[in-house]
Amino acid sequence: MQLSRFWGYWFLLPLYPYSQRPTLCREIVPQRIWVFEQLQGILYAVVPLRMTVVALEEGGLLVYAPVAPTQECLALLQKLIDRYGDIRHIVLPTTSGLEHKVYVPAFRRRFPQAQLWLAPGQWSFPINLPSSWLGLRGEVIREGGTPWGREFDHALLQIDLGRGNFAEVAIYHQPSRTLLLTDLVIAFSLEPPEILTVDPFPLLFHSRDRAADIPTDTPENRRKGWHRIALFATYFRPAAVEALSVWETVKQALAAPDRSPRNYFGLYPFRWQYNWEESFYHLWGGGRPIVAPILQELILPQAPYAVQHWLDRVCQWDFTQIIPCHLKAPIAATAKDLRQAFANSNLPPSDTKFVTELEAFLVARGIAKPRPKA
Ligand SMILES: [Fe+2]
Repeated sequence: MQLSRFWGYWFLLPLYPYSQRPTLCREIVPQRIWVFEQLQGILYAVVPLRMTVVALEEGGLLVYAPVAPTQECLALLQKLIDRYGDIRHIVLPTTSGLEHKVYVPAFRRRFPQAQLWLAPGQWSFPINLPSSWLGLRGEVIREGGTPWGREFDHALLQIDLGRGNFAEVAIYHQPSRTLLLTDLVIAFSLEPPEILTVDPFPLLFHSRDRAADIPTDTPENRRKGWHRIALFATYFRPAAVEALSVWETVKQALAAPDRSPRNYFGLYPFRWQYNWEESFYHLWGGGRPIVAPILQELILPQAPYAVQHWLDRVCQWDFTQIIPCHLKAPIAATAKDLRQAFANSNLPPSDTKFVTELEAFLVARGIAKPRPKA
């Protein structure tokens, strides 16, 4: 265990890598924008989780979507603070992305001088507590104005989901022509993200074709594992994977060479079809931005006019790259690419079938609202 990577509040959102969180800092725009990347996932389907830091023209830093403030993360951040000044603004840009909310109170406590900015309509589940009870005391972000200086513009998307709301704050950094987003857009790289290579075990876990395989740590196996993780993270139940029966899974586990707890006692309930990689290449699509199927199917259809309004507003900005809070960053993309992403994901219906079924399931049980009639 590395003390500098210890995160004691892991139980608030008990996802891999639990209490051991490596952080990687990458400079995206020289002397202006950096990303701090950690990991999150279940069953070793692990994806990057990202905080973005911008050096302000007037001095100091703006932090978009904080990650876990481990000692390692804080030490990396201190290098920027020493050079560019204190953190002046912390932005929580979402209401529904628990993985972005959960670190804010602890992060804020480390930087009490900073102003905390909250996407409007914060809520909690199963009990809707006031924001202040959740440790989220800050200024609510409104449309208009220049709360973070004239170098920024921002646009709010708010969607009423019935039992809560979805909100995301897009920020445009004009000097670097960079668009900061949270969950609305993702893209994939062919190679595993660097933060996943700090400990490649999840990549190798998913590179196997059966429980008995002992994968060697090669670039090919890391890439194979990454492509499968990308499919799980996007579709939850990819069409190209078959779930084995309990009996078959246990039988294979008993014959597996590694039955350690870390290897889930040898349990590996997946059988990938021979052509599974085609699904990944559809998803990758040259690294283009897409709207994640869960948002495209479940969330955005709830408010098509609000989405269109937000998109029109964001597409007035002359950005050349997008930094989202997950997966690939930066994504080389213009307003035209963003419009394309929202118009059509070009993902095969067979791959998005599970998400479509999930929507029907949630609507039937009154958990999600039916789509408004056009
Ligand atoms: Fe997210």
